[in-house]
Amino acid sequence: MHYLQFPDGFRWGVATSAYQIEGAVTEDGRGESIWDRFSHTPGRTRDGDTGDVACDHYHRWPDDVALMADLGIGVYRFSINWPRIFPTGRRTVNARGLDFYDRLVDGLLEAGITPMPTLYHWELPQALEDEGGWPLRQTAEAFAEFTAVVADRLGDRVKEWITHNEPYCTAILGYQDGVHAPGRRNWHAAIRAAHHVLLSHGMAADVLRAAVPGGRLGIAVNFEPAYPASDDPAAHQAAERFSGYYYRWLMDPLFGRGYPEDMIDHYSAEGYLPNGLDFVEDGDFDLISRPIDFLGINYYTRHLSASDETLDQLSAEVVPGADYTAIGWEVRPEAFEDLLTWITREYSPRDIIITENGCSYPDGPGADGGVHDARRIRYLQQHIAAVHRAIEEGAPVSGYLQWSLMDNFEWSHGYHQRFGIVYVDYETQERIPKESAYWYRDVIARNGVET
Ligand code: FCB
Repeated sequence: MHYLQFPDGFRWGVATSAYQIEGAVTEDGRGESIWDRFSHTPGRTRDGDTGDVACDHYHRWPDDVALMADLGIGVYRFSINWPRIFPTGRRTVNARGLDFYDRLVDGLLEAGITPMPTLYHWELPQALEDEGGWPLRQTAEAFAEFTAVVADRLGDRVKEWITHNEPYCTAILGYQDGVHAPGRRNWHAAIRAAHHVLLSHGMAADVLRAAVPGGRLGIAVNFEPAYPASDDPAAHQAAERFSGYYYRWLMDPLFGRGYPEDMIDHYSAEGYLPNGLDFVEDGDFDLISRPIDFLGINYYTRHLSASDETLDQLSAEVVPGADYTAIGWEVRPEAFEDLLTWITREYSPRDIIITENGCSYPDGPGADGGVHDARRIRYLQQHIAAVHRAIEEGAPVSGYLQWSLMDNFEWSHGYHQRFGIVYVDYETQERIPKESAYWYRDVIARNGVET
């Protein structure tokens, strides 16, 4: 077999998030988050699934850490649940919440695994949403306060931090599309939310620089690179608009350019900015574009824009003969390679870490007790090879984190989508490494993937 060898020092890992795996939602003083409220609201998640128990990682983390060590995982990206630390959003710190992450960090370090926490993976304290949530500037200030407390406790041992996971999802899916918590549907609120999420990233960056000398920080942005579905100029225009809405709106200000003009025009014309950019204060763009040490990139699939696409009615183009994962996302590794080279040309990040990439397939234990998820192996192989090609073309990618260590609560899809390389039996909480877990262990050991 022929192997694509990664550069020396390339980092391999897995990613999870708190609400998707922890469970124990009322334990040790944890407060309510917007996802607790949302998942308990009838009709919001498939079959009414919630993260109340999830993978019970809150109690089983030592086993999960041991499992990662067995697989040779070098980096573990997890998230800190904000209402465990601040049950009502601000002011009163719940020490037991901090203790949990303290133990987890120590356990990881003992196992030789680098902890890479994400501060915001969508778990806004419900109390802050009740006051107005991300559309308000005060939420960014509360986030900076939360960051300071967590950094103060963990910063002696945790040297790599991710401020936000997928600001697009927080702002647009949460406040405009309504499919994520808090489930609002209002364009103006969503655009304001995006601004305050970005602002809070900058505020948190300053806090982390001061609290963690020698630390590294980044933000994880998700991309569905947009392609026109046909040669029609209208399809090209729609794809350009989609990219503006989905990622240029975030990437441009993060890299010091402010908001993209074409999208300001579009949102103004649609009436989504009734008072212009009045929520932007002096100095905001300087804060938002604070230097980051690495850009986190989450990639799963691409997007195809049809000629008649609008942002309220996105295209759902199906490509004949293409491969789709169980969640309905097209398998398109070439778009991953293109994305990485485009970002490198367009924004020149100094370092890129793939903070999420993976796929959902329902495979469970077979007659022999093993989970034979050949489609996942194929997906991962193709996407890791795409990263390798992008590196050869000059993209500064230094690490790859697979989503996800184990099957977990997949937001509005509940437990119906399984992204793990480890199978979870939700009745017994038994973990069964899938064939892809052993395959990934070999990739890590070899620092290379087969062609
Ligand atoms: C990403 C999320 C992650 C997981 C994967 C499948 O958008 O960051 O929590 O749900 O998708």
